[in-house]
Amino acid sequence: MRAEDTPLIRLEDYRPADWLIDTVDLDISLAPHETRVRAQLGLRPNPAGEPGAALVLDGDELSLAGLSLDGALLDGADFEATAQSLTIHAPPQRGFTLAIETVLDPSANTKLMGLYRSSNVYCTQCEADGFRRITYFLDRPDVMSVYTVRLEARKAEAPVLLSNGNRVATGDVAGTDRHFAVWHDPHPKPAYLFALVGGALDHVREDYVTADGRKTELAVYVEPGKAGRAGWALDSLVRCMRWDERVFGRNYDLDVFNVVAVSDFNMGAMENKGLNIFNDKYVLADPQTATDGDYASIEAIIAHEYFHNWTGNRITCRDWFQLCLKEGLTVFRDQEFSADERSRPVKRIADVRTLRATQFSEDAGPLAHPVRPRAYKEINNFYTPTVYEKGAEVIRMLKTLIGEDAFARGMDFYFERCDGTAATIEDFLACFAESSGQDLAHFARWYEQAGTPTIVASGRYDKASRSYTLELAQTTPPTPGQPEKQPVVLPVALGLVGKAGDLPLRSASNAYAGDGLVVLDQPSLSVTFTNIDEPPIPSLLRGFSAPARLELDLADDGLLRLFSADSDSFNRWQALQTVATRALTAAGRGDAPSAALTAKTGELAAALGIFLDEQALSDPAFAAQVLRLPAPADIAREIGKDVDPDAIHAAHRALAAGIGEKLAARLTALREKLDKKGPYSPDAEAAGRRALRNEALGLLALGDPVTGAGIAEAQYEAADNLTDRLAALAAMTLIPGEARERLIVRFGDLYATEPLVLDKWLMAQALIAEPGTLDRVKTLMSHPSFSLGNPNRVRALIGGFAANLTQFNRADGAGYDFIADIVIALDRTNPQVASRLLGSFKTWRMLEPGRRSLAHSALSMVSGTPNLSRDVADIAERALA
Ligand code: BES
Ligand code: ZN
Repeated sequence: MRAEDTPLIRLEDYRPADWLIDTVDLDISLAPHETRVRAQLGLRPNPAGEPGAALVLDGDELSLAGLSLDGALLDGADFEATAQSLTIHAPPQRGFTLAIETVLDPSANTKLMGLYRSSNVYCTQCEADGFRRITYFLDRPDVMSVYTVRLEARKAEAPVLLSNGNRVATGDVAGTDRHFAVWHDPHPKPAYLFALVGGALDHVREDYVTADGRKTELAVYVEPGKAGRAGWALDSLVRCMRWDERVFGRNYDLDVFNVVAVSDFNMGAMENKGLNIFNDKYVLADPQTATDGDYASIEAIIAHEYFHNWTGNRITCRDWFQLCLKEGLTVFRDQEFSADERSRPVKRIADVRTLRATQFSEDAGPLAHPVRPRAYKEINNFYTPTVYEKGAEVIRMLKTLIGEDAFARGMDFYFERCDGTAATIEDFLACFAESSGQDLAHFARWYEQAGTPTIVASGRYDKASRSYTLELAQTTPPTPGQPEKQPVVLPVALGLVGKAGDLPLRSASNAYAGDGLVVLDQPSLSVTFTNIDEPPIPSLLRGFSAPARLELDLADDGLLRLFSADSDSFNRWQALQTVATRALTAAGRGDAPSAALTAKTGELAAALGIFLDEQALSDPAFAAQVLRLPAPADIAREIGKDVDPDAIHAAHRALAAGIGEKLAARLTALREKLDKKGPYSPDAEAAGRRALRNEALGLLALGDPVTGAGIAEAQYEAADNLTDRLAALAAMTLIPGEARERLIVRFGDLYATEPLVLDKWLMAQALIAEPGTLDRVKTLMSHPSFSLGNPNRVRALIGGFAANLTQFNRADGAGYDFIADIVIALDRTNPQVASRLLGSFKTWRMLEPGRRSLAHSALSMVSGTPNLSRDVADIAERALA
């Protein structure tokens, strides 16, 4: 496939399906190489479709084994079947039943789309368009059907047989070693939410009664022997169900809710109705094999997929252009859940870090696209940080702009009015226009316009009139296909900080919405605050109230005052980050003498020292975020052009080492105070203490490698949990030498039979910022634990290397060639994983000319390879355009 040959699918070409499928009866007889699928589709003409149209069903690598219409075999001239489609030329113009038989080889399915086997477990992944790899179908989300599914398999091979909905029958197949289960899902759903699982699995379960009184049975299924690691996922499920009842008034709607963990999975997890299927990385946890971060992501992803039951499943998307309708909204919901379960400011900081690292960088490069794209060649390439994370930011801004009450009423309208439908962004926004009485037409531009706006802000205090005037302006740089940008609606949450804290805000300006909110919806505006008795320091974009860059006319000493005095935790964190970012961009560009960086290191260390003395112990999780400097990739993005990764890395190391050296005594003392007593617990409080202790360890390791190595090794010996052991390993990877190599070997031996932990071990090595890393990674590809066939292994080792700023971007181009070769090899078996890996090139245009040209050659090599998948061809084409 060449990308140029692939049709472009456009939002404006949407039209309803000509046919509807009210019912789907599946009879699936599972076998490793020959799985038989008999589908009976209850079809009727769609009143909203083209009358008299042929019936064209989608397929993908299918072969037809049988076909009849209302029980009668079809004449060969009446239909045409290819691997990609099944056409019935002149179907009856009334309701009828089409029976289709296909035969699949799940063991040969390396794409992990459709029906496949993962470690002897049969499972499916159908979003976005994998159902057509199981049977011919109208595989589009606006065709919603009621499913009844009969599964049959050898009892010994698949004692557990699961599908969507409720189990209505089970039994043995007389005279054979096989058994069956029948599942019925009363809720009409699009095909992408279909799922089945068959295998020998253990489970943990819990009874649950919903707020509206439904008894339901929750269960988490895992590989045999791993039930002891499923408890946290089940506990998280119970907590998120209660939260959705309390906060959004949403109850669960079936008699069972099953979660299944599989070890080969392209994504993180999937929200199939009543049968969520997960990458086992996001289910399995115990203190020895999961970190605090893993516990937090399991909680978040269990919640995300569960929340889709309302935002995604009961209300689904009309077409894939509306993907953010379910994903952006559901990310917003899972972020809010985690904020309520843990620390809200710390969660916000972590989310903004992710947004900037993934979405801002996407927006700044050749793959930039709007939250609702207008055209695509391969939908799998649009499950992006823009659709997800920026999509969630848009919902967050909507809530800020219309206020909590109108937001809650709008959500209720949405749930009432759109339940059972395949909806659009317009349907969604109409609910909030009504609940708030506001015209949201301008706000809706957030869905159409790509690019990260920059807000330029400056302020002036006038002593005579006791007033403070703030000037705000916005611009958005051009993105591919959108050279001209319009202003967007930017909610700017702000405060004016005086000597004794926030000053009361009074303003007669139109742009001031009250409650510390200015709405910047034009190219520029000015707001004057009155009755201000002292020159204040502006604290803008509090809580990161809009996904924008802020250029603030405020010197470092003002920022350092905000760091110590702002009432908004996010902006306290941001203030220090901004000071560090300024110093690092100057040094990374090579336009600041190293003396300037040294001086700034002293200022930052002094501010941090006071902070550590006074506040670190009262909120360790927040303090850990404060201690973590902006990453080298953040600095590269900030510099934006002619980037030299080595210069950035050197500046970053110098700053971290300087802080570590200057604060060594304090950091050591702090670590002692944080040393835990009692057994490991994954709760946010305990995790926060470990996070701060381990952040301190990283700085100590850079500040004084000899002492640092000693501390890291001692921590490794004393650790009773993976978080501390892995942090010790990570600190040691910063210190070249024999001791590091010995610890790497020990860690690898300790976890030789734990693939998910070895993933972290592989990644820690892939991230070492030294020229030897490429060879190390190549050697690790022959490690017994590694396989190109397992997406988690690939993401850990190869994806880890591609995220290594200095080594992926080696000046000799060997990093690019390595990733390009792997993309090409992987594309033959798993295009989705290959195309995501190729996405590592998304920032190539910001590099200095030498690296840029080497990255360009590697990309061109990929793009010129014959028989590429549509997934990889599309990314290569757009990255090069
Ligand atoms: N619906 C997606 C899973 C998916 C992604 C299917 C891409 C097909 C293509 C699921 O709800 C999801 O968003 N999963 C995320 C994790 C989530 C917490 C953001 C994932 O898999 O990365
Ligand atoms: Zn999702």
